[in-house]
Amino acid sequence: MRIENLFPTPINLIDIDDEPMTKALHDDIIKVDKKIKNGMPDGWNAKLRTSFESDFDVLTLPSFQQLQKYIFQNTKAFALALGYDVNAYPLRISDIWYNIYRPGDWQEAHIHTNNVISGIYYVAAPEKCGDLIVHSPYSEQMIDPPQTEATIYNSASAAVHPRTGLMVLFRSCMKHSVKINRANKTRISIAFNLMM
Ligand SMILES: [Fe+2]
Repeated sequence: MRIENLFPTPINLIDIDDEPMTKALHDDIIKVDKKIKNGMPDGWNAKLRTSFESDFDVLTLPSFQQLQKYIFQNTKAFALALGYDVNAYPLRISDIWYNIYRPGDWQEAHIHTNNVISGIYYVAAPEKCGDLIVHSPYSEQMIDPPQTEATIYNSASAAVHPRTGLMVLFRSCMKHSVKINRANKTRISIAFNLMM
């Protein structure tokens, strides 16, 4: 039998092997977060602390400048693999912010509108801190027929297990959510959007 897989949902997982940078990011975020108020937009249905709508520009920090290099390097490779003409129309970062999920925190399903590539970098991801859930673009329309096994064709969602130092890249239109943090430690991630 020949089955064509049209319109897949690509995600790119990269382990960034740079412990000193990850530690610097962690320490900077903890320090900054004590000074700024929660920048969570009214429209988010979530429980977390974020710099998203704060006035603080995280790219003023050397640790984020360093991360920016990994972001450009890896999003360029990913975008080229997807067939985006980033050599003629280079990617630029339109947003970058941190998210702090304390025990019990979570985030609802959403997409990152008006961008082409988005990503997450895990600065602290203790065990049971909550998976990243990737939702099928058909999840709201599909019914669940009786199944012999879970496959890419009959699943409404898939889980990405976070780990410290992992970068996850995806197309900004990919619907995703964050499961509740069931660890007794804080989960810290950095999210970013790129446009061409
Ligand atoms: Fe997101």
